[in-house]
Amino acid sequence: MLSRSTVSKAQVLAKLGQLLPRSSGSSMVRGALLHTLKPRQANAAATAPAETGSASSESSGDIAAQAYAPLDTFLRRHNGPRDSDVGAMLQALGFASLDEMVAATVPASIRLAAPLEISDSEFAEKELLAKLKAIAQKNQVYRSFIGTGYTDVVVPPVILRNILENPGWYTQYTPYQPEISQGRLESLLNFQTVITDLTGLPATNASLLDEGSAAGEALVVCLNSARKKTRNAFFADRNCHPQTLAVLQTRAEGFGAEIVVGDYKTFDFSSLGDRLAGALVSYPDTYGNVNDFRALADTVHGLGGQLVVAADLMSLAVLQPPGEFGADIAIGNTQRFGVPLGYGGPHAAFFATTAANQRRVPGRIIGVSRDAAGNRAYRLALQTREQHIRREKASSNICTAQALLANMAAMYAVYHGPAGIRDIANRIHRFTQILASSVVRAGLVVENESYFDTLRIRVPDAAAIHARANERRINLRRIDAHTVGVTLDEAITREELAHLVDVFGGDVSALDSLASAAAPSVSQSAAVPEGLARQSAILTHPVFSRYHSETEMLRYITQLQGKDLSLANAMIPLGSCTMKLNATTELIPITWPEFGSIHPFAPREQTQGYAHMIDDLERDLAAITGMAATTVQPNSGAQGEYAGLRAIRAYQASQGESNRDICLVPESAHGTNPASAVMAGLSVVIVKCDAKGNLDLADLEAKAAKHSARLSAVMITYPSTFGVFEDGVLRAIEIIHQYGGQVYMDGANMNAQVGLTSPGHMGADVCHLNNHKTLAIPHGGGGPGVGPICVKAHLAPFLPGHPELVKADGSPQSTVGPVSAAPYGSAGVLPVTWSYIKLLGGRGMTQVSKTAILNANYMANRLRDHYSILFTNENGMCAHEFILDTRVFSKSSGIQAIDIAKRLQDYGFHPPTMSWPVPNTIMVEPTESESKEELDKFCDAMIAIREEIREIEEGKQSREDNILVNAPHTIAKVSAEEWTHAYSRQRAAYPLPYLRDRKFWPSVARVDDAYGDLNLICSCPPLENYQ
Ligand SMILES: Cc1ncc(COP(=O)(O)O)c(C=O)c1O
Repeated sequence: MLSRSTVSKAQVLAKLGQLLPRSSGSSMVRGALLHTLKPRQANAAATAPAETGSASSESSGDIAAQAYAPLDTFLRRHNGPRDSDVGAMLQALGFASLDEMVAATVPASIRLAAPLEISDSEFAEKELLAKLKAIAQKNQVYRSFIGTGYTDVVVPPVILRNILENPGWYTQYTPYQPEISQGRLESLLNFQTVITDLTGLPATNASLLDEGSAAGEALVVCLNSARKKTRNAFFADRNCHPQTLAVLQTRAEGFGAEIVVGDYKTFDFSSLGDRLAGALVSYPDTYGNVNDFRALADTVHGLGGQLVVAADLMSLAVLQPPGEFGADIAIGNTQRFGVPLGYGGPHAAFFATTAANQRRVPGRIIGVSRDAAGNRAYRLALQTREQHIRREKASSNICTAQALLANMAAMYAVYHGPAGIRDIANRIHRFTQILASSVVRAGLVVENESYFDTLRIRVPDAAAIHARANERRINLRRIDAHTVGVTLDEAITREELAHLVDVFGGDVSALDSLASAAAPSVSQSAAVPEGLARQSAILTHPVFSRYHSETEMLRYITQLQGKDLSLANAMIPLGSCTMKLNATTELIPITWPEFGSIHPFAPREQTQGYAHMIDDLERDLAAITGMAATTVQPNSGAQGEYAGLRAIRAYQASQGESNRDICLVPESAHGTNPASAVMAGLSVVIVKCDAKGNLDLADLEAKAAKHSARLSAVMITYPSTFGVFEDGVLRAIEIIHQYGGQVYMDGANMNAQVGLTSPGHMGADVCHLNNHKTLAIPHGGGGPGVGPICVKAHLAPFLPGHPELVKADGSPQSTVGPVSAAPYGSAGVLPVTWSYIKLLGGRGMTQVSKTAILNANYMANRLRDHYSILFTNENGMCAHEFILDTRVFSKSSGIQAIDIAKRLQDYGFHPPTMSWPVPNTIMVEPTESESKEELDKFCDAMIAIREEIREIEEGKQSREDNILVNAPHTIAKVSAEEWTHAYSRQRAAYPLPYLRDRKFWPSVARVDDAYGDLNLICSCPPLENYQ
């Protein structure tokens, strides 16, 4: 504790700032006070523990304020470097203060004039949770039987705690480095096996964003597999879920496809002739009917189209799978497999198809290959299909794709196994039969011809039924004045069923006799048409029969987790991915029932807590980006790009400029940029970068001028994907505006901007944010993603709408269609971002950006003598990330970037981003959350690897057999009887002393990519492989 006389004025001011009441006015005062501090002092104040002493000039109010100050302040927990480290790091870079460093990094012309203000923020951690709990409690947790693709679930607690709430699972990165990702790769392969088994279709992926966008992906596969461009009509049955139809309609626009909505039973398909690319139906349909689509499949195939079935995954355990009745593609949501409702997401969608369509499957596919020792190893198959390779030729822009939720769904199937899943499905159906009988006995009409779990009930007065349900805190589906929908789920109890029966005026006392009369399984039920009960086995692979006790399950989850390097193990310095801290306080609220158990279509009056939080977020994100309006609907950054470009196109159409259809994209852009542009119906024109990595302004201007009549937009990433704050950005924006185009800013690198500059301040018209990068939502092994877009006022009317987003008079809130199935996308994880912003406030987030830049430059500076840094500004500074040019080693030693990446695994690190944006280089982004010790360890490792390369260059190790090309080294390898290499086992596994305390063992040796792609296996290998 400091003595009275040592308390600095800075500390007193900072404390006072922290303790002022939290209104926007006071936060301005607090900002103003802190602004008078030199950054170095402000940092000290922000990280200093609360002191109880006071200078003699302090008033008693100040002293009292200090006495009450909470100690669990957040900024010092979020940022890695300690105060003393910041000083040392700045000194190493030759700066006296953080502000001096920022001045040398960020062009003065784009700096914000005033500090970023976030009202009602800078809470301590406990305070934050109390504040958010109060907001959460404005949500009313009703029992929702609304269905429409979302149901309540029983999340097995062993999965809830050990996956959803476990940083060992939620902080992993997309498994691009298979040797340190075998755990989640195995789990995602289990997911694919669940999907292929249940749908009866052999090719699948892991995973997609939601059912609506999965329908969009299916549309594109149908269009692309048609030989003629004129085959561009797609039929959609009117009884698909409304949100699926709405997202499909949106998707079709960019491809110039026509969606024909009708009743598949009466529609004259021959009227579409050879224009029919495909047909979408729902199984069961949105009102519960289980239809027989065998004849439809023949009709659609006869006309040369493909049959797409949006299926309910749970029902497929007991109903004939789509693959057995002629479907070419099956899509749907896996939420029902143990993932909370979360007000609409995040949930993983599935996509399964025939072998003929295998190479057209969008997104990430997990495959089976072998490692250098010949052992089985899992990997992302067909990695070259990723958009950053295929770019404008990509047929989908899917990148981040709800992997964590796919893991949950897979584990749900592993835990319950085939019999357990069938029991759940049959139980749901049995309850539904009892409800149907009760309702009919009460004199009402069940309109369904067949059903699995959903009834469409005709009633004299639907409003009266809803009122009675409301009294029991029950939500039913509102269909019309005389029709009500009910969907049952695995969480249903006898008591709840009794409430439902009572709501419909049924006889509760008859329940038990009806229960004994109900068929115990779908296969014996009259409610399912002849021939549609499932005959084929499900989940036959042993993995689904091994882990049914909680002890076994816990060990399986833990065993897989141990194979994966996550942030719980070490830094994951992936350029362009911002793998920062996902703080526990930020994550805790997502499993509160007030957030987790809300149906996306629950009435507005029950979702006031979400409304409050989303309003806050929309306002705060607009402030952060310098924009006027925000939507949180997109489920990933790429989905945000697509939504933003559509907003631009809709705006231009409203100005009579529909002819604007060209999008300029720099050659350095992330592959999702051109892919999204194509999806939005734009033609891509590539703009060059100069030798220093900057946008080539002359080329930009020439192309903007050449295409001025058709120029729609430019997509710019800032700081650039090369990791530099380019000086020319303002001129680039000016050029585009001059030629009538709009500026889309990709916000993947926003972590370097917050509080220093902003897309809106620079003049961009629209930008997305990757909340799973900048704003602390965990990557979860490849999703949940949230990609809000923020726009200037003129684009606000063109943000995506949704069938559920209506004005008071019932008219749509936006004339532009939705990009996601749920109105607020992955709303269930928005509390993470809300908490991040409210914990840090504008001041804290600005400090975060400065620290991110400091960490990157500190590392670049340490590595400069050993590797060349590809791009920096005129002061030699990078932004929040930098590229190490490893191409030179190819000639000098035969070493490629991939060898360095694999060797880093031996040093206990996740390799940085590889081969993008520049082939055969590596891009490092440490983030602000890493401590100086961790940065130093990584630099030590990289320097040691450079020395290892030198040994090859000097002939001390051969080009063919050396410590890099043999990396990573597994336990099996270093403990084998035989050792034939020129270097020792000790050097292979423990090259630096820190590894004695912290060794992470890759669980397989280097994985053979080519073999995996040639021998594509996308579900769990057959039984004999396990014997
Ligand atoms: C620069 C850039 N833009 C866009 C994206 C796509 O974002 P998402 O993966 O959230 O779809 C990424 C993803 O890494 C990126 O780095």
